[in-house]
Formats: sequence, structure tokens, C-alpha cells
Amino acid sequence: MFQTINTQLENNILIITINRPDKMNALNHQVLAELALAIDDVHGRNNIKAAIITGAGEKAFVAGADISEFLTLSPKQGEELAKKGHVIFQRIETSHKPIIAAVNGFALGGGCELAMACHFRLASNKARFGQPEVGLGLIPGYGGTQRLTQLVGKGRALELMLTGDMISADEALAWGLVNHVVQPEELLPKAIAILQKIQTKAPLAVTRIIKCANAALDKDQDGFELETQEFGACFETKDLQEGATAFLQKRPPNFTGE
Ligand code: COA
Repeated sequence: MFQTINTQLENNILIITINRPDKMNALNHQVLAELALAIDDVHGRNNIKAAIITGAGEKAFVAGADISEFLTLSPKQGEELAKKGHVIFQRIETSHKPIIAAVNGFALGGGCELAMACHFRLASNKARFGQPEVGLGLIPGYGGTQRLTQLVGKGRALELMLTGDMISADEALAWGLVNHVVQPEELLPKAIAILQKIQTKAPLAVTRIIKCANAALDKDQDGFELETQEFGACFETKDLQEGATAFLQKRPPNFTGE
């Protein structure tokens, strides 16, 4: 049903592959629209417990927004495009189910921003990260100025955004931009293994942890207050009863997400 992305459900994990390899998987309007629908599926379908976002082909994760769509935009349309990107990427960031990026190649501009909107990132050793917008007379517009600064600190973020340079997967690892660097053939298996481990944990607790971690970076929220409330709310769940009982009975828990 999609034309610019592929989706595949494996072990209750939706693998979303941005699929324009001849254009380095650049994010045009159609990709953004289809990605938004796939994220709706992740949120809404009970048989999907988590998602991975990756890119088709060997070269690119996503090499940015589609530059060919830029030349005719007015300032107002540019603002609207950024807002549209913000909405979709915020829906990824605030998803109540884990969504991780498996960065298989170039993650530039909107591609780096897409990876940063995910809950965390894995990279193949072929991945390259950068925000080259400044070289186009532009700035990052899908949350990059904010999320890059949050993830790697202001000094490193500004150097990357002001020079437009790319960093390697190993540098991204050293900067804390990605959690793991693996061989290309290990990328999806590693991402799936991490998400399968998360699936053995209490689903409501997983959701609450994501919510509280997001609050840490939200100026409008008191993250400590939210953590207090969410911690308390765990005590009305069957999952806490099951988890604590299983621990005391020295057996693995069987969580139902209730
Ligand atoms: N938007 C639109 N088209 C893009 C694109 C983008 N962000 N990135 C790559 N493409 C297209 C190229 O125009 C080219 O199309 P063509 O074959 O019809 O000419 C095709 O993808 C292959 O890219 P090419 O540049 O030939 O590959 P390369 O291996 O020499 O370089 C990159 C790869 C990723 C380094 C280079 O494509 C690049 O710098 N892309 C733009 C990155 C960028 O500025 N992103 C921020 C956008 S806001």
C-alpha cells in the first residue's frame, strides 16, 4: 500500500524502511505522509509492540529532506514544512511504544533528525551523521537544532551544524549520538534483539519510562513531579504484582500490560 516506504512485521516489531534508494531515501512530501501513517499503525495496532526505522539500500539511511522540493517554497510554506516535520517526529519521540533507528548509511539533515527523534539509535560502521543544511543556505528544520544540542551538547552540536561536516559511526558513538556500532549485517538483528528484550519487560512501565525521560527535556514539564506520579501509578497495575511476585518466587514474570 505504501510507495516510498516498506513495512514488515517481524516478532511484533514493525520494521519501517524508507525506500527511495535512488534518491538516498530523501524525505519528500510522500515519504513524510507515509511515515506518518506507519507511525499511526505503531500507535494503534495491538500486534505491534515496537518499531525500527531504517533505510533501503547500502548507502543511505536518509540523506535529508528532498532538496528538489525547496526551490519554490515561500517563507510561509517553509515554516509549514518545518511544522509538519515537527509533528511527525514528535509523534515518534512521544510514542508509547519503543521506536529505534537502525542507521545503515548516510543520516544527513532530516535523516539525522529522524534518527534523533527515535528513542535511541544503533548504527552500522558505514553510517555517517551530519547536519549539512548550512551549506544550502538553510538551517535544520525538523528539530535538529534542539535534539542534537540535547543529545551531544551545545559545543559539539554547533560545530556539526555550523561546519556542515559529517562524523563517522565511531565518532557518533563517542559523542553519545548512537548507542552501538555494528557490522552492517548485524544492524537489524541487534536492533531486533534489543526490542525483544524490552518486550519481556512490563509494557506500562516501558511507556512510563519513555514519558518521564521525554519530560526531562521538556521545559514545560516538571520531570521529577511526573516521575513521582508515574511511579505511584505503577502500584495499581497487575504488572507490578506479577513482576514483584515472580521475583520473590524466583521465576520469570509474565506481563500482560494491565
Ligand atoms: N534531496 C534530494 N535528492 C537527493 C538528496 C536530497 N537530500 N540526497 C541525495 N539525493 C539524490 C541526488 O540528487 C542523486 O540524484 P540523481 O541520481 O537523480 O542525480 C542521488 O540522490 C544520488 O546522490 P549522489 O549525490 O549522486 O550520491 P553520492 O554518493 O555522490 O553522495 C551524499 C551522497 C549523501 C553525500 C549526497 O547525495 C548529499 O550530499 N546529499 C545531500 C545531503 C544534504 O544536504 N541533506 C540535507 C538536506 S536539507
